[in-house]
Amino acid sequence: MKKIFFKDLENYFDKEIEISGFVENIRNIKWVQFLVLRDSTDKVQVTIEKSEEANKEMADLVNNLTVESTIKVTGTLKKNDNVRLRGMEFIPTKIEVTSTSDAELPINIHDKEAQLIDQRLDYRWLDLRNEYNFNIFKIQSDLVKYMREYLYNNDFTEIHTPKLIGAASESGSEVFEVKYFDRKAYLAQSPQFYKQMAMASGYDRVFEVAPVFRAENSNTNRHTTEFTGFDLEFAYIDSYRDVMDLEEELLTYALTKLNEKYGEKVKEIYGKEIVVPKVKFPRIKLSDLYLELEKRYDYKIDDSEKNDLTTEAERLSYKYAMEEFGSEFIFVTDFPKDKRAFYHMRKNDVPEGYDLIYRGVEITTGAQREHRYDVLKKQAEEKGLDKDIEFYLEFFKYGCPPHGGFGLGIDRLTMLVLGIPSIKESMMIFRGPNRLTP
Ligand code: 4AD
Ligand code: MG
Repeated sequence: MKKIFFKDLENYFDKEIEISGFVENIRNIKWVQFLVLRDSTDKVQVTIEKSEEANKEMADLVNNLTVESTIKVTGTLKKNDNVRLRGMEFIPTKIEVTSTSDAELPINIHDKEAQLIDQRLDYRWLDLRNEYNFNIFKIQSDLVKYMREYLYNNDFTEIHTPKLIGAASESGSEVFEVKYFDRKAYLAQSPQFYKQMAMASGYDRVFEVAPVFRAENSNTNRHTTEFTGFDLEFAYIDSYRDVMDLEEELLTYALTKLNEKYGEKVKEIYGKEIVVPKVKFPRIKLSDLYLELEKRYDYKIDDSEKNDLTTEAERLSYKYAMEEFGSEFIFVTDFPKDKRAFYHMRKNDVPEGYDLIYRGVEITTGAQREHRYDVLKKQAEEKGLDKDIEFYLEFFKYGCPPHGGFGLGIDRLTMLVLGIPSIKESMMIFRGPNRLTP
């Protein structure tokens, strides 16, 4: 039998149907029992009149029913304006328990704040039954759908590249080593080398949405050891500015669509507005940003720290971008070469790349890539990498168009769009230095 989703119940008034879901609430009063059933799309009330002789068996069953059990109910859906929940009620003729929940739940699923986040994460499958948590991943699913949609509309090909690799791809961040028969392998820190290989193969435009592993032993609200990377690469660009332009268009497209579908819901559940970008994302050099932050907010740090964005500088760059440009996004460019990967193209010794900061947090690093074999080899040697990555350098020996791309963290983007306090909650199943379960 085809499952009837509760969101579609309006189509089934006065017909005998079968519905299934979790028992969210049981109210057992003198003459009547009320159940609230929940599925992934909505809720509905089931009403059982105890006084009716024919209902005796059902009433007994409900007396022993526990919340969060799942049931299958046969009966008829009736309009009833007295019912607060959707002005309808389901009048059953038969109830079958399909799974029984323990009477005591280990966490309070209706009040997130009743326990610490790590207690909740231990029981993530229950924690996700909470409306706030549940909807994160419905919304995330559409967010990624719209991002993909933009790329399909613009001639991108989705690729799938290995996560077991022979050499570290992002020299700046830590890599997980795994035993690979009698050798060592690494978990991919990004699909960087393979999306560039696709450029050398002539694909012109590719993207991948896939796990990325980082052995970063940090417990912040924005770091995790495994996340979902949204990575793309495209050829025949003239500059890294083309990469920024594309990312700006892609995010504007996705946020527009997301706002159309979820704008109201996001306000209601998360208290956040999905702001559709109305202006071009401002672009500023790293050194100029520090000058502005000092001038405007008296933000002073040692010169030695100004070669990269500090967490506080990221936060203040949001304030600056809002005040000066009315933009929640800001591109920061002109990082020094020792802070950027060897594969970034350089002009006058400055990497042709950027970070994109959204609501005060880095969501992307992007760049034009060095596609000239000799120059790339020299830049790799400078960072002491040439032996490990010989196979990668080979990609550039037999013709490879100029190209660029970026990597964006889906979990961070989700966290920021919805205003969720920690990445622990914006990924369905969090992985951190101290968490490998559930
Ligand atoms: O800035 P990252 O390390 O850049 C790269 O992976 C390059 N291959 C990108 C490129 O094409 N030049 O990672 C890209 C994004 C970050 O901006 C951030 O959103 C996310 O991935 N990210 C993390 N998210 C959660 N936890 C972590 N530990 C993350 N590290 C990076
Ligand atoms: Mg980065």
